[in-house]
Amino acid sequence: MRTIGHILKEIREEKGHLLQEVQQVLDIDLTQLSKIENGKRLPTVEQLQKLAKFYNCDNKALIIQRESDKIVYSFEYPEFAIETLKVAEDKIKYGNQYIQLFQDTIYPKPISLESRRYIGSKAKLTDWIMDLIDKETENIGTFVDIFAGTASISNQAIKKYNSIIINDILYANNVIYNGFFAKGNWSKEKLNDIISNYNTINVDLIEENYFSENFGGKFYEHNTAKLIGYIRQDIEDLKPELSKKEYNILLATLIYNIDKLANTVGHFDAYIKKPIKSQPLRLRLIDAQDFENVKIYREDANKLAKQIKSDLVYIDPPYNSRQYNRFYHLYETLVKWNQPKLYGIALKPAPENSSLYCTTKAKNAFENLVYQLNARFLVVSYNNTYNAKSHSSENKIKLEEIKNILNKCGDTKVFECSHRFFNTGKTEFDDHKELLFITKVDEKRKNKSFSSLLCW
Ligand SMILES: C[S@@+](CC[C@H](N)C(=O)[O-])C[C@H]1O[C@@H](n2cnc3c(N)ncnc32)[C@H](O)[C@@H]1O
Repeated sequence: MRTIGHILKEIREEKGHLLQEVQQVLDIDLTQLSKIENGKRLPTVEQLQKLAKFYNCDNKALIIQRESDKIVYSFEYPEFAIETLKVAEDKIKYGNQYIQLFQDTIYPKPISLESRRYIGSKAKLTDWIMDLIDKETENIGTFVDIFAGTASISNQAIKKYNSIIINDILYANNVIYNGFFAKGNWSKEKLNDIISNYNTINVDLIEENYFSENFGGKFYEHNTAKLIGYIRQDIEDLKPELSKKEYNILLATLIYNIDKLANTVGHFDAYIKKPIKSQPLRLRLIDAQDFENVKIYREDANKLAKQIKSDLVYIDPPYNSRQYNRFYHLYETLVKWNQPKLYGIALKPAPENSSLYCTTKAKNAFENLVYQLNARFLVVSYNNTYNAKSHSSENKIKLEEIKNILNKCGDTKVFECSHRFFNTGKTEFDDHKELLFITKVDEKRKNKSFSSLLCW
């Protein structure tokens, strides 16, 4: 039974018109009018317009009734009608982006560790680096990634070596390592349930929050920011019911899913000053695993160097003045969730965990690091990102300095690989080279060379 007919009949009767009268004024066949009112056929758009005008009522409301009648009576499987309508709603809302949404929600693949946008990530160089390590070193039991960043190198090493130490000074990175790698109790089903709930939140029904008030309309589209803030708070509220591993997986999942929606060029030093396109935030779990052989730290590398013993340390520090705690401040704020006062256009908190490697003390810090490390091999990544136009891109440690320092530790080989260097569009590095130093440590030579550092 089509409802548009009943509605038209009710309006006509309320207005006190006879069917014949309507037929005469609007010149619509009487049998047709009667069938329409009895729900046996739909009015044409033209008929509906005439009727709306004659009854002096809202044409749009009548068209909506007619369209919905058409939809309701088109179902071949009425038992799936409600779910079908929800999918249709998403298709209308998201247009071309719907396929992405479909892949994310209906066939969700877990999100891989490498999919994060991160300056200096070695995700595209892992094969090259790991192959060289394989060829140039031997008997590696314990592998340390002491400036791990995205942990792209750890992610390969973890499958290969007996024991792995992953370290980075940032809170968000630590949560990510714990989510992806740490051993712990967790239930995928439980987490998928929580995430499915988040994916059905009606953003119009939730309130403004710390995240939306600060970052909405800037780093994220306003409604997306509202949802992020809401979910972050909910994860905190759920903490008593979650294991440590589950808590870290949820936080890492939130970071990984919002990473691609950020209105930035890949870091949070600035946001793009253009209207932000609305995109759905549908969470997908990260590809969490638990490994027995991993230890995770959030330490200053130079402090950690004194506490650990290993076979190989992979060293990939920042080389210029751009501090990672400033580039990724938004994730630090999101993870710590102590809702700090924020400063400046980029809404950064007061600095914490700034790195000596981004200052004029970088060379001393590096010397001290390699001196303190108790390892048989040192593997150091280095890239020549210097560009005369951009002072902040200038390396704090020069190539010759790195070479000299490493040679003081033992015989050192240098390997070279060209690749496209990440940049924010301000600088160009046509001649960018990625270097890898592999040093076979000679303890005697090292101790002799660095005797002057004993009092560091
Ligand atoms: C060049 S990135 C490492 C990139 C990493 N190899 C990857 O593939 O993603 C340097 C990392 O060192 C961290 N860092 C900077 N200073 C540090 C310090 N003193 N101790 C520990 N980590 C530090 C930064 O947070 C950043 O993640």
